[in-house]
Amino acid sequence: MSNVAAVGLQWGDEGKGKVIDILSEFADVVVRYQGGANAGHTIVVGGEKIVLHLVPSGILRGETHCVIGNGVVLDPETLEKEINDLKARGYMKDDSRFMVSALAHVIMPYHKALDKLREREKKQKMIGTTGKGIGPAYEDRAARTGIRVVDLLDRRVFRDKVRENLLLKNFIIKKYYREEPFKLRDVVNQYGTYRDLLKRYAGDNVQFLHKSMEDGKSLLFEGAQGAGLDVDHGTYPYVTSSNTLAGNIACGAGVAPEAIEYVLGVCKAYTTRVGEGPFPTELTGPEGDLMREKGGEYGATTGRPRRCGWFDAVIVRRAVMINGVKAISLMKLDVLDDLDTINICVKYRIGKKVYSDPPLAMKDLAACEPVYERMDGWRKPIRDAASFEGLPENAKRYVKRLEELAGVPVGIVSTGPQRERTLLLQNPFSP
Ligand code: IMP
Repeated sequence: MSNVAAVGLQWGDEGKGKVIDILSEFADVVVRYQGGANAGHTIVVGGEKIVLHLVPSGILRGETHCVIGNGVVLDPETLEKEINDLKARGYMKDDSRFMVSALAHVIMPYHKALDKLREREKKQKMIGTTGKGIGPAYEDRAARTGIRVVDLLDRRVFRDKVRENLLLKNFIIKKYYREEPFKLRDVVNQYGTYRDLLKRYAGDNVQFLHKSMEDGKSLLFEGAQGAGLDVDHGTYPYVTSSNTLAGNIACGAGVAPEAIEYVLGVCKAYTTRVGEGPFPTELTGPEGDLMREKGGEYGATTGRPRRCGWFDAVIVRRAVMINGVKAISLMKLDVLDDLDTINICVKYRIGKKVYSDPPLAMKDLAACEPVYERMDGWRKPIRDAASFEGLPENAKRYVKRLEELAGVPVGIVSTGPQRERTLLLQNPFSP
């Protein structure tokens, strides 16, 4: 038995879906522990592109069990669509392989509405959320007014809780935003249609995961978003509403901290960000366009074009530190194939002042200029390299330099979206 976590080191969209898909071959159980349908994992299997928002991508493997932990905020509408779609494609034949924590909080229609209305009102100060109701659902969890899967399973309890919630939500929607309020009957009827589905999958994730470990099974924890979007350590307030770091696995899955034996940090060979917020290495000219087009950098959840820029070793180094990363999975190295020169941000500068760590005040981070180290590109396709040694010299040099700057080895290099385009230098399950 060994347990591994794969977490994002940048602002999400690092390619965790592909890494989880590869690693789930070695895992018995794949577990999500935070976030919700704001995440979007794109996996290419047998030439078929599959996008998953909630169900862990381990479901694509025949034997793997998949668990949505209590720390996830669950949108039953998305879950239903995703399960129907997976079943239509011939996956998820055995329902016993999938579990949703009965303690996970449910995203309600008013969460989605409030998320969008708030963004509309904020105008220039908007965060650029995915509009999936993530923030409002986590707020209700903290306010102790949230509705959990176990509540939805009980008709009476659910109705009472929705009624109580609508008193305040409708007041805000009607009086502050001047929009149509929600009708109790509509909400109760719509969510009643998800009851059977959730009954089939709801369970005690704590009991299941601890029994799995006792039986010697290996767990893989699937992170969503990335360290730059962590509600405490990210670029607040331009963040998501959960802790994305490995430290949150214990709470969001219900395991002890020592159950997380190996943290794999996933990052791209460059940087992207969706939504608003500071991004020191952003490229707004043709180099950024090239990365976006070659890397297909459009949001899996919202379709928004992603902002693109050079690799930022300052944020990655910090993400490695606060996650306890043992090795890096370096994604999309092939996207840099055509470049003559490649920049790596090694420090920041504001005027004469140099920063090796990100400044804490957001206005300072927004004012930071990147200090670049320039490297020669390799200018040839790397997708067919069968080993790290088979990569062009300049590509190897680039990877080695990133290792030095991050302070941990690169254990996986991805040279294309397909499963086969993966160089596994160190298997986290048998390091
Ligand atoms: P929210 O999570 O929908 O509240 O959005 C808050 C911020 O996190 C926005 O900038 C989103 O674009 C960003 N975000 C949320 N989920 C993801 C993701 O999976 N990948 C990239 N950015 C994300």
